[in-house]
Amino acid sequence: MHMASNKNKRRSQLSYGKLDKDGFIHRSWMKAQGYPDHCFDGRPVIGICNTWSEITPCNSGLRELAEYVKRGIWEAGGLPLEFPVTSLGETQMRPTAMLFRNLLSMDVEESIRGNPIDGVVLLGGCDKTTPGQLMGAASVNLPTIVVSSGPMLNGKFRGRDIGSGTDVWKFSEDVRAGRMPMDDFIAAESGMSRSRGVCMTMGTASTVSNLVEALGLCLPYNGSIPAVDARRQAMAHMTGREIVRLVEDNIRIKDIVNRDALINAIKVNAALGGSTNTVMHLLALAGRLEVPLSLDDFDTFSRDIPLLVNLMPSGKFLMEDYHYAGGLPAVMKKMASHLHLEAMTVTGDTLGTRLETAECYNDDVIRNPDNPVQDNSGIWVLRGNLCPQGAIIKPNAASPELLKHRGRAVVFESIEDYHARIDDPALEVDEHSILVLKGCGPKGYPGMPEVGNMALPRKLLERGVRDMLRISDARMSGTAFGSVILHVAPEADAGGPLAVVQNGDEIAFDGEARSLELLISDQELQQRLARWQQQRAESPYQRGYAKLYVDTVLQADRGADLNFLTGGSGDEVSRESH
Ligand code: FES
Ligand code: MG
Repeated sequence: MHMASNKNKRRSQLSYGKLDKDGFIHRSWMKAQGYPDHCFDGRPVIGICNTWSEITPCNSGLRELAEYVKRGIWEAGGLPLEFPVTSLGETQMRPTAMLFRNLLSMDVEESIRGNPIDGVVLLGGCDKTTPGQLMGAASVNLPTIVVSSGPMLNGKFRGRDIGSGTDVWKFSEDVRAGRMPMDDFIAAESGMSRSRGVCMTMGTASTVSNLVEALGLCLPYNGSIPAVDARRQAMAHMTGREIVRLVEDNIRIKDIVNRDALINAIKVNAALGGSTNTVMHLLALAGRLEVPLSLDDFDTFSRDIPLLVNLMPSGKFLMEDYHYAGGLPAVMKKMASHLHLEAMTVTGDTLGTRLETAECYNDDVIRNPDNPVQDNSGIWVLRGNLCPQGAIIKPNAASPELLKHRGRAVVFESIEDYHARIDDPALEVDEHSILVLKGCGPKGYPGMPEVGNMALPRKLLERGVRDMLRISDARMSGTAFGSVILHVAPEADAGGPLAVVQNGDEIAFDGEARSLELLISDQELQQRLARWQQQRAESPYQRGYAKLYVDTVLQADRGADLNFLTGGSGDEVSRESH
């Protein structure tokens, strides 16, 4: 731990504490907003890093929530200063919000480092916003606390609960199979998203906000209080008080998030039935923090964790039910024997202390370990000649009978090729085939979109087929389900073996053995790869951020951060601006 520092050495005082031309400039222009002299007297200056945006609907409540954080900061004797950063709306951005997660992280990092603040509260919610903010904040390492948007109210449609994302995939297959009229489909849209907040299934956003809570980087119940529940405002207020104390005690993000905390997060992710996307985000965060964490750790540490949380897409309930059942503290209490309970949190309590008062109010929503939703959960990490740097599958989203499967590849060279041919009645495919999609990795798309759970051929849907084994270098939405092998690395566009899979090749997947093999000889594979290298075309991305991204992005097994962003540069800036 860093020891409490003299308040004159506070970072903000390097700007506001100076009795010279530079100090005048720093203070005077801030006084233009009505701040009196005593605001610059050495009190902690707290940045509120806000991803509020009207085109990130999941974060549209954060402008208002920031005001409650400010109340707490003022009350504790700090000076709150809110600033905007890039926002990323998962459902609005093309080609995928993931392309811009690293751009957000750079924005956050430089905004924190460049400004005279002593600590920061990160306001995020939608899938890529919190991970991008955490990555940027980790590379500066100031005292940091997260306040999340919180989940939407449960979706409602014609007398039943419907879940963000999860029911979209179901409804659209029903429409394609002729079981749902288009009028119903449109009507369901307003019932699904009927309040501000993030997806109310255990999708990526809710998984991430719960993992932030597991990491100890926020106040209890940040992961579950509904977005529109007044208790979220109260929690935001209390967060304002805590960040001031955290600055006074000089406890920084690296003091909270160590390897034990990250392993806790991996285990909690398994108990939640959490999103596969968190694999990418935790690996990237660990890279920023310079904490050793590997793809294989996800398999190792989630192996004997039962699925306790009965939420869509792995189970049946939604986030409102989860909060009323006791939220993450109740989950962690039930799996306490698996966790590092001495892990520190931003409130100064250990994780173990936080769990003492936790209670579960509904054992069907948050199951007991002797009655889990499924025996083992988590993420399986696969190896084999088709994925030398790994691939993953979420077994509790898959069909048990497909967890060991051998079949012939039906290959799509790109997403356009897939869309053009998937519903072609002449496509040679049956329920034993394996759908293989290329060109959807970090470099390929670019940005590694959530298309790995590609919809099945219409002619098979009409025959009642509901699942098939699918393999790609893409991700899938945290709200999605199916027997889907994701994050194949190296991706096709980086010259991975996936690039040379051909129609009709046999592929063998054995989940228990964690293996994924393309059944051709080694010699044949090498010849195909050499040919691929010779025929490789120049990248179409020759300018702007897309070029920077494609030229420098790491593969999925490293969290798809940019290669020059791993690690951090600390919080020091020695030079003045004038
Ligand atoms: Fe924003 Fe799901 S789309 S949280
Ligand atoms: Mg998503």
